[in-house]
Amino acid sequence: MGRRVFVCQLAEVVPEELRSFAVAGMPSPVIVAYIGPDVVAVAGACPHKGVDLVDGYLHDGALMCPAHAYMFDLRSGRCKNDPKLELRRYLVAIVDDQVWIELR
Ligand code: FES
Repeated sequence: MGRRVFVCQLAEVVPEELRSFAVAGMPSPVIVAYIGPDVVAVAGACPHKGVDLVDGYLHDGALMCPAHAYMFDLRSGRCKNDPKLELRRYLVAIVDDQVWIELR
């Protein structure tokens, strides 16, 4: 079992938007977004060249990196442009209207 860390209040996550949060003990921020009714959390740095993904675009369950327009499926983490790249995803738990992630 991993370590659960607090990310944000659920009310801070807005449908159709990417939100970025600094998380205690983590080197880069975590991006939180709604995909349909589900809250997903992913690493805030692009696995291609490390660009901050909060400035990216959310479209149809995918995040487009602002640097080179690579598309990452937010449910699977898969990159549609380069199958060798994967965006790190975190297991999300909603507890008392707060968003927590599981670190392994
Ligand atoms: S840094 Fe994200 S696609 Fe290149």
